[in-house]
Amino acid sequence: MEFLDVMNARRSTREFSKEEIKTEEIVKLIESARLAPTAANRQNWFFLILKEDKKDKVANIMQKHLDKERKIQNSEVQPTKKYTPTSSLMGSIRVIKEAPILILALRRNDKNWFEADYLSMGAAIENICLTATSLGLASLWLRDVIYVRNKIVKEFSLEKMDLVSAIAIGVSSEFPYERKKKSLEEIMKWG
Ligand SMILES: Cc1cc2nc3c(=O)[nH]c(=O)nc-3n(C[C@H](O)[C@H](O)[C@H](O)COP(=O)(O)O)c2cc1C
Repeated sequence: MEFLDVMNARRSTREFSKEEIKTEEIVKLIESARLAPTAANRQNWFFLILKEDKKDKVANIMQKHLDKERKIQNSEVQPTKKYTPTSSLMGSIRVIKEAPILILALRRNDKNWFEADYLSMGAAIENICLTATSLGLASLWLRDVIYVRNKIVKEFSLEKMDLVSAIAIGVSSEFPYERKKKSLEEIMKWG
């Protein structure tokens, strides 16, 4: 596929078939992440590939959090912590259970490089999503894991790491519509 065609074809996908993903395909995804640009060439990233019950552990941790949040949001008690968007979380849990592969995208904690490392992680994650499209696979970039990032990091003994996002990978069982994008006129002008 031509590069621009790949970008045009990529869609956030939320319905996955049960089809398994080959190990070589996963390796290609992470290889593309490895090639992404990173601030000061720090490459301060780490990717944990989860399948089956290990992947479901993430979904279960999120489900527990969702149940707790719902109780708080339905009660008279004013939440003390940051608000969690429960409908988005519910959808993400379903996707994580359904997709055959979940990639956790982590960075080693370093508060001095917080912004630069986060930008670099974005580049790597986008490489993964685009490479997935080029291989005929579907992806969903999931930020929703961050509401339980500490619990996930503990579950997989990833202490000293910060969970930035997750990416669900699989074969699509839907034809996601093209999401409305702002026009060029709205987002650029010649200075
Ligand atoms: C940083 C980032 C975080 C995202 N987190 C989630 C998420 O937690 N759950 C979800 O369903 N989609 C998530 N998405 C997907 C967006 O909703 C999606 O990219 C957007 O609606 C545009 O659709 P498109 O990717 O098909 O162009 C995320 C996307 C990005 C870039």
